[in-house]
Amino acid sequence: MFQYSLRAAAAALVLAGVAISSSQGLAQTHAPSPDPFWNVPDIGSLPDDDQGRLVRRGRDLITATYAHIGPGVADPAKRYAGNNLACRNCHLDAGAKKFGNPLWGLLGQFPQYDAEQGEAISLEQRLNACMTRSMNGRPLPADAPEMRAMVAYIAFLSSGVRPGETLTGYGAGHMPELDRAADPQRGREIFQRTCVACHGANGEGLRRDASVADLGYMVPPLWGPDSFNDGAGMNRLTTIANFVHFNMPNGVSYVLPRLSPEEAWDVAAFVVSQPRPQKADLDKDFPDRLRKPVDAPYGPYADGFSREQHVYGPFGPIREELARLKAARGPKPAP
Ligand code: HEC
Ligand code: HEC
Repeated sequence: MFQYSLRAAAAALVLAGVAISSSQGLAQTHAPSPDPFWNVPDIGSLPDDDQGRLVRRGRDLITATYAHIGPGVADPAKRYAGNNLACRNCHLDAGAKKFGNPLWGLLGQFPQYDAEQGEAISLEQRLNACMTRSMNGRPLPADAPEMRAMVAYIAFLSSGVRPGETLTGYGAGHMPELDRAADPQRGREIFQRTCVACHGANGEGLRRDASVADLGYMVPPLWGPDSFNDGAGMNRLTTIANFVHFNMPNGVSYVLPRLSPEEAWDVAAFVVSQPRPQKADLDKDFPDRLRKPVDAPYGPYADGFSREQHVYGPFGPIREELARLKAARGPKPAP
């Protein structure tokens, strides 16, 4: 009970946009620009016409995915997601936060070659990669009203972005790598100190109030049956370590990270060492194995390194071996 109220209080502060101070010192990082948010157009200023309503609906789907297409919604035909996460749990500030996996400016970037699929994919297909992996569910049809709404919202976030324009802040950031393997044991201690208050001792997160039939989380789970599956981008060490470094405890940004890079790598190693849903047919990903990311946590691999090293690093030696294999293969026509 005490544990619950403590975490509810912590989460309430989060909702108020206040980062909880931890026992850690502040990591010294200098940022290129002081603004952690993309200057998104004001959604409330859209007219109340069909397009305006579609964009608002898309934003709702991103911020409260579980309430519209989650596994607990009344209509079984709408249960596309397999967990009760929301897109915004990883696409922070509904896709508007720099290095919080932003969703702005994407419209002009698709179709785009995707190494995982080995072909060019549309924005809808990319979104469905998150539906089947991050959301552990099934793909939305391209013409489903929910798909159209989310794409309309993502398109809205690209307002004013010229085709080919280079923006900064994409992905989850790039901190220096370790020259040793990231260590889940050290990570467990950092987790106890820095994450447990919000995410819970078993990474189970904190549900909203079920008595008012709210299906989602105040703090999302990090592993276990209601989390993202093992094929998700967040299950790759580099992605989750950078995301945590630049965004966690919730409320920090790249302007002033809280965890040192070393702490972020180790705590990420602890999270990816925990159990989560498994996706079928992952061996079919990355048909060109030389283009498989060094930290893909599942085989088969083109190089001779162990799965363990692909999961925890160090990645430098793997990268060198892949470069050697690519050079030996010779030039390959660009896809
Ligand atoms: C102050 C509370 C708080 C603390 C402390 C905190 N988180 Fe979070 N975390 C959140 C919230 C809330 C979200 C979802 C953000 C949103 O939806 O806007 C989140 C999202 C995440 C996500 C992405 C979503 C998911 O389900 O995987 C990861 C990964 C994560 N946190 C890891 C960590 C780690 C590791 C730590 C410790 C270093 C940590 N967090 C500390 C509140 C917290
Ligand atoms: C558990 C975390 C998580 C959740 C939940 C999640 N995503 Fe993602 N998503 C990611 C990560 C991490 C990436 C980029 C990294 C990668 O490609 O591996 C990504 C990439 C994307 C991209 C491509 C972005 C780009 O820069 O090209 C789109 C579009 C997207 N997600 C949409 C969605 C939508 C819509 C939802 C909800 C239905 C969703 N995601 C839910 C983690 C998540």
